[in-house]
Amino acid sequence: MAESMKGMKRTHRCGELSAANIGEKVTVMGWVQKQRNKGGIIFVDLRDRAGILQIIFEEADCGAENFAKAEKLRSEFVAAVTGRVEKRAGAVNENLATGEIEVRAEEVRILSEAETPPFPIEENSRTKEELRLKYRYLDLRRPDLQRNLILRSRMTAAVHTFLKDEGFLEVETPILNKSTPEGARDYLVPSRIHQGCFYALPQSPQIFKQLLMCSGYDRYFQIARCFRDEDLRADRQPEFTQIDMEMSFVDMEDVLDVTERMVARVCKETVGLEIPLPLKRMTWDEAMNRFGSDKPDTRFGMELTDVSETVKGCGFGVFTGALEAGGSVRGINVKGQAEMPRKKIDALVEFAKGYGVKGLAYLAVLPDGSYKSSFAKFMAEEELKSLVAVMGGEPGDLLLFAADKLKLVWSVLGALRVELARQLGMLDENQYNFLWVTEFPQFEWSDEEERYVAMHHPFTMPMEEDLEILETDPGKVRAKAYDIVVNGMELGGGSVRIFQSDIQERMFEALGFTKEKAHEQFGFLLDAFKYGVPPHAGLAIGLERFVMLLAQTDNIRDVIAFPKIKDASCLMSDAPGKVEEKQLEELHLQVTE
Ligand code: AMO
Ligand code: AMP
Repeated sequence: MAESMKGMKRTHRCGELSAANIGEKVTVMGWVQKQRNKGGIIFVDLRDRAGILQIIFEEADCGAENFAKAEKLRSEFVAAVTGRVEKRAGAVNENLATGEIEVRAEEVRILSEAETPPFPIEENSRTKEELRLKYRYLDLRRPDLQRNLILRSRMTAAVHTFLKDEGFLEVETPILNKSTPEGARDYLVPSRIHQGCFYALPQSPQIFKQLLMCSGYDRYFQIARCFRDEDLRADRQPEFTQIDMEMSFVDMEDVLDVTERMVARVCKETVGLEIPLPLKRMTWDEAMNRFGSDKPDTRFGMELTDVSETVKGCGFGVFTGALEAGGSVRGINVKGQAEMPRKKIDALVEFAKGYGVKGLAYLAVLPDGSYKSSFAKFMAEEELKSLVAVMGGEPGDLLLFAADKLKLVWSVLGALRVELARQLGMLDENQYNFLWVTEFPQFEWSDEEERYVAMHHPFTMPMEEDLEILETDPGKVRAKAYDIVVNGMELGGGSVRIFQSDIQERMFEALGFTKEKAHEQFGFLLDAFKYGVPPHAGLAIGLERFVMLLAQTDNIRDVIAFPKIKDASCLMSDAPGKVEEKQLEELHLQVTE
C-alpha cells in the first residue's frame, strides 16, 4: 500500500551526496535499484536521476516497523528515506560517485510499489531495443539515457545563453503551415473547417524566419521542431529539432563566425571539449574530389585519386568504357591491406554494388612487388606500373577502383573509405574534426523530375561571380551555401538568402517554377519582399546530431525521449493509429482500401 510523503521533505538527490555531507541528517527519495537482505542488516541502493546511493537499515537505528518495510522493498519500488550520512563501513565503491558514503536509515516510507519490470534498469542494457522502446518510460530510467537527455538540456540552455548574449531574439513560428521549401515530403493535417484543404507541418521555419527579418527582428533564433516524411536512417527522425537562426545585414562570414563560436561554447560548457577556432574550410569541389563526400570525415586519409588520365586508352574495357561514356575512374589506396583475404574484398565489392556501381576493381601490391588483381590481366605491365605510381601504391597496399558516372564514383568511394576506416579501427571517437563546406552547387540535376532542383532551397543566393551564368550554365553556378560538418556527419547548414526580387525571379525560372506556381507556394514571402527587405542569411543545426556527437552515440534514438522507429511508428504509443469514422467525416476524409 502506498504511503504519503506528508511531513517529509526531500533534502538532496541521491547522487548529490558525498563525503562532504557526513554527519548530516538527510531525506532522499527515489527508485530501489536493488535490495540485499543480510539477516539483521539490509542494504538498499536507491536511485534517482543524480545517481545511486547506498542505504543501510539496522533495527537498532530504525525500529522494527521501518525494518519490516525495508524487508519488503523490491526493485523499482519508490521509497523515501530519512537518515544520517556516514562514511561507508564496508569497502569504498570506486564505481559510484557516492561510493565513500552510505545513509544509515531512521525512517522509510514506501511511496509506490512496482511490478517486476520487463527488463533490468541498468547501464549499457543488453535488452533488445524494440522491447526497451515499447517500455520507453522504463528505458528512460537507465542512467545512460538520463545522461543523454540531461546533456541535451544543458546544451540547449547553453545555446539560449549564448544567442541571447549575441543579441538574438527567440520567436516561435507556427506548426500548422502551408508547405515549406526543404524538399522532403510533407506531413499533412486535414482541415475540418476548410473542406479539402490541408496544413503542412513545417520542414523548417525557413520562410517565417525570413519574414521575421523583413519585419525588422534583426537576429532570430528558435529551438524549432521540424517534420519531414522521409526515409529514416541512423541519424534521421520524422520529427526532429533544429537550432534555427537568421540574421539581418550580414554576409556569410558573420553567420559562420557566430555559429562556430556557439558550437565551441556549447562543447566547452557541457563536456569540456575545446574546439580550436576558426574552423577549417573546404569548398564543395575539394570535399568531393578528395573525400567523395560533401560531409567528409577528415580524421583519416585514404583520399580519392582521379586516375582517368592514366587509364585512358588502357586495355581494361570497364575503365575505358566508363570514360567513353563521360564518366570517371577513381581509386583509393588502402595502406597495408594488400593481403586482405579474398572473402573480405568480395564483401567490399558487394558493399560498393549497394551504391549502384556494377563492380569494384582491385589491385593488391604484394610485399614482393607482384600484383594480385581483378583486372591486371587486361592491362600492359607499363599501364599497371603508372597506375600504381599515380595511386602512390607501395608494396603492401590495396588499391580499389570504381569506374562510372562521376557522381556515383564519388558516392561509392566516399562510402567505401568510411566503411574501411570503420573496419580497420581508424576512427578515433575522441577526435572532433569540425569543418565548413562552402560553395555548394546551386542546383542539382534531378533525373526523376528531368529538371534542375535547388540543392539547398530556392531562396539561396548564388555567388555573385556566377550570376551571369545562371541561365546559360546552371550546373556550374555555386551557391552562398555552407554546411558545418564533423567526423563525416552534416551537423547543420544554411545560406545567404536572395533579397533582390529580380534575382529571385530568375531563380524560380531556373528551377522551372512558373510565376503562378511560385506565387501559389511562396506568394506571401515574395509579397513581403516588395516592402523593404534587409540582406539576410542564416543557418540551422540539427540538435539531435549535435547531442549524438557529444554523447558519443551513433543512434539518434538515444538522444530523443520518445523516438520513432524506422517505419515512423512509435512502439510505445502505437502511433500512428486509426481514428473514429466520425472524425474522418468531420475532416471530410474517406479512407480507401
Ligand atoms: P537543412 O535541411 O540542411 O536546412 O536542415 C538543417 C539540419 O537539420 C538536421 N536535420 C535532421 N536531423 C534529424 N532528422 C532529420 N530528418 C533531419 N533533417 C535535417 C541536420 C541538418 O543539417 N532551413 C534550412 C536551414 C537554413 O537554410 O537556415 C534547413 O532546414 O543536422
Ligand atoms: P567484369 O569484366 O564485369 O568481370 O569485371 C572485371 C572486374 O572489374 C571485376 O573485378 C569487377 O568487379 C570490376 N568492375 C566491374 N564494373 C566496375 C566498375 N564500374 N568500376 C570498377 N570496377 C568494375
